[in-house]
Amino acid sequence: MTTIDTATGLEAPAELSEQRVKSIFTEIADQYEKFNHYSSFGQDRRWLRTLAQSVDIGPCSCVLDVAGGTGEVTFELCKRHGPAIIVLSDYTPAMLEVAKQRIARGDNRGVCVKTCVVDAQDIPFDDATFDVVTMAYGIRNIPDRMRALREMHRVLAPGGTVAILEFSTPPFAPARAFYNAYLRWGIPAWGDHFTGKRDDFVYLADSIRAFPDQQCFAAMLRNAGFQDVKFRNLAFGAACIHTARACE
Ligand SMILES: C[S@@+](CC[C@H](N)C(=O)[O-])C[C@H]1O[C@@H](n2cnc3c(N)ncnc32)[C@H](O)[C@@H]1O
Repeated sequence: MTTIDTATGLEAPAELSEQRVKSIFTEIADQYEKFNHYSSFGQDRRWLRTLAQSVDIGPCSCVLDVAGGTGEVTFELCKRHGPAIIVLSDYTPAMLEVAKQRIARGDNRGVCVKTCVVDAQDIPFDDATFDVVTMAYGIRNIPDRMRALREMHRVLAPGGTVAILEFSTPPFAPARAFYNAYLRWGIPAWGDHFTGKRDDFVYLADSIRAFPDQQCFAAMLRNAGFQDVKFRNLAFGAACIHTARACE
């Protein structure tokens, strides 16, 4: 099994990325949503809406939000669809603590939302448990991405949908150059402003630059067993939503 350093994409022991990511998201959990909102110039809300619209969810659907963090995707799904249940899972307990405060404030709008600490590379649910699996800005942080994708495929019911929102590569060269400059200087500056942890955000920017582009990630989804793999670029390809179905 090949694991990588998620900051560079080069082969490395899984613990390197796992420990770093847990420490970063523990440190920034309380400021994470504010950072996301300002650093994306408010686009985060639009992208979440688009992600929620890209999945078919009914009142009986069971949904798994992987690397769900503070619950941004989960609560958007509660607002737009009202499924029967959402399991909001994440590797970092501090992120889920923020999600629990949001549940206490009623952001789940009456939907049953269960939180649990889960490593996406080893999902503790039976095969074919969920109708929909979502993940936003999570897969980039995982050292064995193929294993996580196979796990997501395994827990989906046959024909179930996965929807993954992730930063990506603008195909148009001038947009790519602008975006790379923003990653280099803008993201660490915003991170420093909100949390005082500039280095954590240098990592986030590095991990975005090292992440496979749209076509490569689509190929990874097919290799993990998914079919009907599609993607939709957002903001000139700075971010992208991939959708696919589990084999019937
Ligand atoms: C950038 S945040 C995204 C949170 C949320 N999905 C959102 O849209 O705001 C990335 C999340 O991935 C989680 N994560 C990192 N590695 C993980 C793993 N191996 N399994 C599950 N979650 C992981 C982190 O704890 C963090 O909460």
